[in-house]
Amino acid sequence: MSGIDIAVFPVGGMGTRFLPATKAMPKEMLPVVDRPLLQYAVDEAIEAGISQFVLVTARGKGSMVDYFDQAGELVAILKAKGKAAELAVLESTQLPPGAICTVRQQEPAGLGHAIWCARHIVGRRPFAIILPDDLVQAKVGCLKQMVDAWGRVGGNMIAAERVPEHRTKSYGIITPGRQDGALTEVLGLVEKPKPEDAPSNLAVIGRYILQPEVMDILSEEKRGAGGEIQLTDAMAQLIGVQPFHAVAFEGVRHDCGDKAGHVIANIAYALAREDVGPAVRAYLKTL
Ligand code: UTP
Repeated sequence: MSGIDIAVFPVGGMGTRFLPATKAMPKEMLPVVDRPLLQYAVDEAIEAGISQFVLVTARGKGSMVDYFDQAGELVAILKAKGKAAELAVLESTQLPPGAICTVRQQEPAGLGHAIWCARHIVGRRPFAIILPDDLVQAKVGCLKQMVDAWGRVGGNMIAAERVPEHRTKSYGIITPGRQDGALTEVLGLVEKPKPEDAPSNLAVIGRYILQPEVMDILSEEKRGAGGEIQLTDAMAQLIGVQPFHAVAFEGVRHDCGDKAGHVIANIAYALAREDVGPAVRAYLKTL
């Protein structure tokens, strides 16, 4: 089975939970310590073997595309000043020429709609999706874990984690089938069910490997929960038609689209770093 070489990053959302910051900057550019969320997402994709990066952007979110340009003037100044460490940081964000491309989502009609906007670039091949506001802290990147598992079973794959029962209404929830190690067969998917209607507490998080047929289903433009075109609804139609698995990944997911989740991610990533970790740890001990 050949690998996955393309990933879609839907970054067209309005980020209303992060107002007022998102009035002037995209949510996906919020830093965790010093790297934007989008950079973590791209790094995770590279680790998984992705070579083509598709950003689905929207009005007012163009700064994300500029971010990937070479910062020529800055590089020249850093070189003149002998700032080798800073130059290395910049280099670590550089993508090969032509690796990144963008499409626009003209209206925030939902995650499924955002993915569908990338259909001409994705074409007829399996593809990955990363939601940058779901940040996964892991020894081996979450998408790499998925690509490795996908190499064995193929089909469609989502990353999943257990959430507290009262929180099912914030997630796509899985009806689980047969379990084999980290893989669980997906028998059903329901978007944001009330706890009493939820088939489990196994929630879909922002990592997917999907077959191109999902684009055909999204083309029908059916509206679901919240009047939006839901990716979960389109994926649900592939169950029973193509293999569909959930992966219990190793790592910790931080919901950085949520204020508390973003603060916690900053603490967790800071503590794991040699440069800022000691100062943050010392401060936390005083609380
Ligand atoms: P969210 O559900 O977090 O929505 O989207 P949001 O608009 O970004 O944020 P809030 O809820 O208003 O604070 C999950 C992912 O799907 C993308 C978002 O950019 C985010 O990566 N998305 C969502 C789109 O690209 N387009 C949409 O129409 C909706």
